[in-house]
Amino acid sequence: MAAIALKCPRYKVTVVDVNEDRIKEWNSDRLPIYEPGLDNIIRKTRGVNLFFSTEIEKEIKEADIIFVSVNTPTKTFGLGAGMASDLQYWEKTAQAILENSEGPKIIVEKSTLPVKTAEAMERILRANSNNSQFEVVSNPEFLAEGTAMQDLLEPDRVLIGSHETESGLRAAEEIVNIYAHWVPRDRIITTNLWSAELSKLVANAFLAQRISSINSISALCEKTDADISEISYAIGSDRRIGPKFLKASVGFGGSCFKKDILNLVYIAESYGLSEVADYWRMVLKINEYQEERFVANIIKTMFNTVVGKKIAIFGFAFKANTGDTRESPAKFIAIKLIQEKAILSITDPQALRNAQIDLAGTGGEVTFDPDPYKAVEGASAIVVVAEWEVFKTLNYADIYKRMKKPALIFDGRNILDHQQLFKIGFNVYPIGKPNLTHFE
Ligand code: UGA
Repeated sequence: MAAIALKCPRYKVTVVDVNEDRIKEWNSDRLPIYEPGLDNIIRKTRGVNLFFSTEIEKEIKEADIIFVSVNTPTKTFGLGAGMASDLQYWEKTAQAILENSEGPKIIVEKSTLPVKTAEAMERILRANSNNSQFEVVSNPEFLAEGTAMQDLLEPDRVLIGSHETESGLRAAEEIVNIYAHWVPRDRIITTNLWSAELSKLVANAFLAQRISSINSISALCEKTDADISEISYAIGSDRRIGPKFLKASVGFGGSCFKKDILNLVYIAESYGLSEVADYWRMVLKINEYQEERFVANIIKTMFNTVVGKKIAIFGFAFKANTGDTRESPAKFIAIKLIQEKAILSITDPQALRNAQIDLAGTGGEVTFDPDPYKAVEGASAIVVVAEWEVFKTLNYADIYKRMKKPALIFDGRNILDHQQLFKIGFNVYPIGKPNLTHFE
């Protein structure tokens, strides 16, 4: 919405939320999320044509176009629990729109939704007694956290799905016109409603599938002394494969990949396509396998026990450049190590607040320190979980001195200079590459 406000000065954009504290934060100097470049755009647009408010009913009444971006978490109860999307917030929003509208509106699905949600929403919206007319359009979001501003301002594509009726196509054109303020027309794709909804899930499933594919091969590399970075480079140089999303890691995290694949699996199953469901389920299974084998390797390498040993976790966010820790592999790893009675010190440039919340009640001995040099004091091992740039440029000779010997590094992102670390004296355990150890 901030990008629309920035690029379309003649539109008035109001963001509404039921959460008063959130809206207060959006109206303050301390935004509720960390996203590089966002504060700059908010500064330029807030109070000009971008507003944040809790007056939902009033704003619904006044709006011509409503983007619905409420969350659609995986259902935790009832039919489809653990797989399907929980659509209660979406439905409540549709009801609120219905109750507070006095004229025609375009409703834009921005949240990631299961295919055919638009149809269900239309049923709610058409159950009205007044003469409002609603046209539902799907406009899924493809931005990634940490690069959101760039993704929004220079998107690979914008996708807009609508009914292929006269009024549907007219509504789609209105949304196309918004993006056409800054996105070249040939990058604005229009499709039918269902294709747009399904494309969102499929895009995330394909991205996650690439990571699981390379991570599965990383396990094989560790058995054969092949090097996963060399393989990524070699296969990624084939233009048909391409180099992106081929970095082996501790596993993918974030609020979307798992949720969207579960959704895809659920949809496939509900249409009786069990082979399709199994195929995509394996992407998640490999991800869990990767996380589990990473922790198992830490414990095995530390002489099969981490009881009372201090381990420094470098990075708690689900990836670099965000404070978001949802589905972060770091959480899984930390909890496993706490269960094994390790002492953890966690460092992260942006995610410590969330890390504290995530680990509250786990009963472990855990400290949180924004300074990596302090976090490693007396530690036996460093575990790199998120690929923050700052971790690459630390003085590892100094860090080595502060640690207990033998000092171990488990580089779950392959971001460090392993040869250099080995020369300093570290025993180095990368992902999908031969270990470098001083042990006999
Ligand atoms: C993802 C998609 O990339 C966006 O296009 C989509 O809009 C978004 O989900 C969404 O549905 O909201 P995001 O979750 O922010 O974006 O982050 P990604 O950059 O896709 O990374 C996801 C996870 O994969 C991270 O844990 C990351 O570290 C991991 N990853 C990524 C790897 O392990 N290896 C790679 O090569 C790339």
